[in-house]
Amino acid sequence: MALDIIIGAQWGDEGKGRITDLLAAQANIVARYSGGDNAGHTVTVAGEIFKLHLIPSGIIHPGVICLIGNGTVINPAVLLREMEALAARGVDVGPHRLKISRNAHLITPAHVALDKAREAHRGSDPIGTTLRGIGPAYTDKASRVGLRAELFDDPEGLADRMEIHIQGANETLTKIYGAEPLDSAAIAAEFTAYAQRLHPYLVDGSVLIDQALRHGRDVLAEGAQGTFLDLDHGTYPYVTSSWPTAGGALIGLGVGPNKVRRVIGVAKAFTSRVGSGPFPCELSGDEAVRLRGTGANPWDEYGTTTGRPRRVGWLDVVLLRHAVRINGLTELAITKLDILSGLKKVPVCVAYERHGEQLEHYPTDLRVLAECQPVYEILDGWQEDVTGARTLTDLPVNARHYVEFIAAQTETAMTYISVGPGRDQVIQV
Ligand code: GDP
Ligand code: IMO
Ligand code: MG
Repeated sequence: MALDIIIGAQWGDEGKGRITDLLAAQANIVARYSGGDNAGHTVTVAGEIFKLHLIPSGIIHPGVICLIGNGTVINPAVLLREMEALAARGVDVGPHRLKISRNAHLITPAHVALDKAREAHRGSDPIGTTLRGIGPAYTDKASRVGLRAELFDDPEGLADRMEIHIQGANETLTKIYGAEPLDSAAIAAEFTAYAQRLHPYLVDGSVLIDQALRHGRDVLAEGAQGTFLDLDHGTYPYVTSSWPTAGGALIGLGVGPNKVRRVIGVAKAFTSRVGSGPFPCELSGDEAVRLRGTGANPWDEYGTTTGRPRRVGWLDVVLLRHAVRINGLTELAITKLDILSGLKKVPVCVAYERHGEQLEHYPTDLRVLAECQPVYEILDGWQEDVTGARTLTDLPVNARHYVEFIAAQTETAMTYISVGPGRDQVIQV
């Protein structure tokens, strides 16, 4: 019937996996459209925790077809490990359920080695990438020398292309970065084996989605990363190398804009970021520990992919207004409201101040951003545990006010309020 898009409205880790799992119950297809295994999406069902990197979060719903779309970059070794881990837990990941777009690009060991070498080369100013080879894989795609998943259908062609690719990368690795060369023949053989296992999963993703839509079925696009990690609209150069925003969903799946129904922005009730780059509302010390947690709970703010402690700060609605505009968000889903329970006061950044002037829009120039100070409005907190709330009226009045304040500040309806990681811990407004 229609395409709904789930987008991270901040710097990633907003709880997209959790919201995708919730909405997947109504979907025929759940599709990832950007990024690769830099993503880490957590789904919690009946106390069981699933951490997904490449496979769409719809996979936990037995009837749902999961597509890894053309806009993604796929490390086949990681994909196969993820498939095996899910299969071991009783999740069906056969080719009738899991599909790979033929024109998705592959991440190779050379991309991973180049990612590491480039980060090391940046010295004291790294991007803070996940070191998964994401940037170099998209670089090859844009340079028109990338290897696409369709080569799984042609193992000999894949082996030939791989040898050339690795030998080329070795030039850069050894001569520019002083790194060790990779064994091109061994990697070519490794990928031939992957091809044998993965070729049954190849599809034309655009056609698959079109057929579902024509049959009146719903398709859910699962964003990875977040709006501020977008290659164009994020805090460049401290971004990822793809387009996590709504436009990226259309390109990354091969769907036209006339098929889009809802664009759901997922935002945490505060802000987090992993990796380097500006973060105007960043907190340190005890306040940061209060939001991040100590790692004792599975939902504490430590990277799902790299385990790095996430940088945290109060909610920033200047960011959210930018996300609403860039993505055309039809609504917002807020997560982790429960984490704010017990605070006396909850600051929310409502504007930036620079040289005595208030900025209306999020500045795209990092030099301007560096001079911005957050302007906070201080809301009253609430002491009650909200993890059992299932309707708006179950929420303490100040928690309700907090949510309504965000909706008013962003001029965007709040349709989901998540109060815990579990599938049912949500208020659907
Ligand atoms: P994603 O990358 O956007 O899918 O988000 P991550 O899975 O990386 O990080 C979100 C974390 O918050 C995960 O551990 C989720 O289980 C957890 N989470 C999601 N929603 C809620 C919520 O409402 N409350 C709490 N306490 N945890 C949540
Ligand atoms: P999900 O889908 C949070 C960040 C990295 C780094 C920058 C570039 O779980 O929200 P990359 O490896 O992509 O070249 O790194 O982007 N980053 C993420 N941060 N959540 C993610 O994914 C991220 N994917 C990439 O930390 O700052
Ligand atoms: Mg994540």
